[in-house]
Amino acid sequence: MVKKRTCIFISGYGSNLKYLINNSRNQNFPIKISLVVCNNKNAKGILHAKKNSIPCLIINTNKRNFENKILNELKRYKISLICLAGYMKIISKKFINTYGKTIINIHPSLLPKFKGLNTFKRILKNKEKKTGCTVHFVNEKLDAGTNIIQKSFFINKNDNEKILKNKTQNLEYKAFSEAIIKIFRYN
Ligand code: GRF
Repeated sequence: MVKKRTCIFISGYGSNLKYLINNSRNQNFPIKISLVVCNNKNAKGILHAKKNSIPCLIINTNKRNFENKILNELKRYKISLICLAGYMKIISKKFINTYGKTIINIHPSLLPKFKGLNTFKRILKNKEKKTGCTVHFVNEKLDAGTNIIQKSFFINKNDNEKILKNKTQNLEYKAFSEAIIKIFRYN
């Protein structure tokens, strides 16, 4: 199987990145992680790239033309899939159109509920019975592209933000890889 050359965008811990790296070692997993893009030079996630000898582009998003710089690297590394894994920067419409290939994102709620930030706080405030995570295609609207996969769990009355985050992230690690397998199943 020819693996799709994939770039993972991160901003923080990179725990999703870590799981994707591990799963991509399996020869039946459809992607090879060829590049990591990070917009935070202090992000812990950079270490996962380093440890696994994956090139990592650290980008300053305050600079003009930063998206062009990323686009050039994507071309150089022949990237055909982007996975946003905790990338805390909105991708511009121009970037999406210029790149022209698949971009997917993981979000810690059952979209279309709770788009945007501070999801766990809002989920608790809203007294939701269930929550979970969504992997979806990225379009120019925030957290709004077609869903690929959702995984959910029931919220216990003692669950706080931290517990919700842990439970959600444990589902994310499975959901991200399952979503990737799903989109390449017939290719
Ligand atoms: C994940 O919970 C994801 O849903 C959100 O950002 C978080 C990233 O965590 N978009 P990590 O950097 O993968 O540990």
